[in-house]
Amino acid sequence: MEYKRILITAALPYANGPVHIGHLAGCYLPADIYTRYQRAQKRDVKFVCGSDEHGVPITIRAMKEGVTPQDVVDRYNAIIRNSFADMGISFDIYSRTSNKTHHETSQAFFKKLYDDGVFEERETEQYYDEEKNTFLADRYIVGTCPVCSNPNAYGDQCEKCGSTLSPEQLIDPRSALSSAPLVKKTTKHWYFPLDKYEGWLNEWIVEGKKDSWKSNVYGQCKSWIDSGLQARAMTRDSNWGVPVPLPGADGKVLYVWFDAPIGYISATKELTTQWADYWCSEDTKLVHFIGKDNIVFHCIIFPSMLKAHGGFVLPENVPANEFLNIEGQKVSTSRNWAVWVDEYVKDFPGQQDMLRYVLCANAPESKDNDFTWKDFQDRINNELVSVFGNFVNRAFVLMHKLCAGRVPKLHEEVIDDADRALIAEIKGSAQKVETCLEGYKFRDGLFEVIDLARKANKYMQDKQPWIVAKTLDTKPEDQKLIDNCLHLCLQLTANLAILANPFLPFTSKKMCGLMKVVDRMLEWENAGRIDLLKSGYPLPAPELLFRKIEDAEVAAQVEKLHDNLKKATMTSDNSGNNNAQQPAEAATAEAPKYLPPKPEITIDDFAKIDLRVATILSAEKVEKADKLLKLELDLGYERRTVLSGIAQHFKPEDIVGKQVTVVANLAPRKMKGIESKGMILMAQNMDGGLVFAAPVAAADNGGEVR
Ligand code: MF3
Ligand code: ZN
Repeated sequence: MEYKRILITAALPYANGPVHIGHLAGCYLPADIYTRYQRAQKRDVKFVCGSDEHGVPITIRAMKEGVTPQDVVDRYNAIIRNSFADMGISFDIYSRTSNKTHHETSQAFFKKLYDDGVFEERETEQYYDEEKNTFLADRYIVGTCPVCSNPNAYGDQCEKCGSTLSPEQLIDPRSALSSAPLVKKTTKHWYFPLDKYEGWLNEWIVEGKKDSWKSNVYGQCKSWIDSGLQARAMTRDSNWGVPVPLPGADGKVLYVWFDAPIGYISATKELTTQWADYWCSEDTKLVHFIGKDNIVFHCIIFPSMLKAHGGFVLPENVPANEFLNIEGQKVSTSRNWAVWVDEYVKDFPGQQDMLRYVLCANAPESKDNDFTWKDFQDRINNELVSVFGNFVNRAFVLMHKLCAGRVPKLHEEVIDDADRALIAEIKGSAQKVETCLEGYKFRDGLFEVIDLARKANKYMQDKQPWIVAKTLDTKPEDQKLIDNCLHLCLQLTANLAILANPFLPFTSKKMCGLMKVVDRMLEWENAGRIDLLKSGYPLPAPELLFRKIEDAEVAAQVEKLHDNLKKATMTSDNSGNNNAQQPAEAATAEAPKYLPPKPEITIDDFAKIDLRVATILSAEKVEKADKLLKLELDLGYERRTVLSGIAQHFKPEDIVGKQVTVVANLAPRKMKGIESKGMILMAQNMDGGLVFAAPVAAADNGGEVR
């Protein structure tokens, strides 16, 4: 099918926290790359997004902070909007679901379904808090988990054992808002009969999208549909949200997952009076970019709503990504285990393309992936700097040295096979990148760009114009060889700018400045041309496109992550601050905070550690060190001194004679002028207290612990 226009949406982030790099990698960056590419193709494209400003987590956060929900969404809408702008996410509009157009649009949508008799009205019993005079969403109900006895499980999930729960399953359920006893009251809601759409969904997705949708998306949809769909309530009892537009529905709002996707339509309406062209004509290609936790809403529920309403296009594709973990662990906003975009922008000013590069190269396109700062450094230094940046820089430097700072001519008569091969690469690369991007394979597309730069480096290395230049005295005609080499290298640089533009827009713009060409050169139809830069045109001296990432920067970022985690663990602020990419997290009651598990090791890793039993022979305080005790240990086969940071927990006289476990082959370390040889093992309690991790019964000193 020939599409006349493309409408691209990116999941509306909840305005209850900043965005982190997982959000970028999962949804916003691929959406932006796709959009920039389509714009470069001069297609009619609109890219819409906005803040999702309703829903329970926002009201919880407001309550915890003692502010209004409107305050919360105003604050985060601004932060999120700025982060996207800073990172070059080029929405045509970034709207908000709290605005008037959206309220009207979603209410009209609901009303149409209501008038058409789509909804089923049902009365159910729901928990009610008589002190706060409010029905309680599942998240607001706490009680004891029937599976693991965690006393602080939520009405929808136990955070300790991970079980999915309903409020009915909780033992001794209570309100999270007050100490009032829970009562049940009947309440009326409007249900969307998803079950009636099963047949249609089966045809449209299971049969129709098998080959065009990504397998992670298709698989999830199929298993939902296969396991049978049920009617879902599309309204909630709450005073924050879009009011249900029916008489007698006071205190009821639209379910956030009913109103939010309609936000795509509202945003388009605000953007253009031609909005109906984008939403209501069959020749629009509608593409939803989302994270994997949004799949059911965008592939099953929203399309069924659109179908029930009638007159709207359905998504042609929903290229959802999986999750991006950080340093081996799942992102957790409540434990502050995340790399926040606003902080990255502060820590690496002007280096947005570096992050865009790494997040795209490492995008979780088909499975969860891991972001590590070390990998960030490696990719920047070894790919972006050494391959891409280095090539462009050399081409400019050599042009100044060997061609008087002007774009040299191409002398047809001396073109050789290597030149022809490079020209073929230039001509072919646009098609390769294009195929990747049209198929939502953004990583592969980016690798093609880097690959072209890699080939260009090799070409230059083989041609060695700087060596040719040494014998120009005797062979002046060789200047033509030098000219051809640099002519092609510079044309290739122009091509790199075009191909990199969807991925690295800041860099491409900078390259246009270097090449003294207008931004229009970046239009996709120019890719593959080798006459983009005019011969004889003087160009300025090069400027480095990228800088290296130092070891110290990596260390500082890793430390920052761990510091944040520690602070969050100590303050236990479970603010329920979850965002588009990750599932909902703890919102109110306190659960014990464990440090995250470390990455898996092999038995060989473990075998390197020499653990031994030892007895403390003597213990004394170390001068000018309030935390340290100096211990003399008997390891059976030898005696040694070990310093241990336990002075604030134990009196020296209390621990003499105790047995401990020692890491015996730890490299010695000097502290306060004393050499410590090894380390004793302690167990840390949740309250910060320490106990010896030691044999429970008397053991032989020097015996191995394994
Ligand atoms: N706010 C939701 C989330 O963060 C995404 C909403 S997407 C929309 O998971 F389609 F509903 F807008
Ligand atoms: Zn449990």
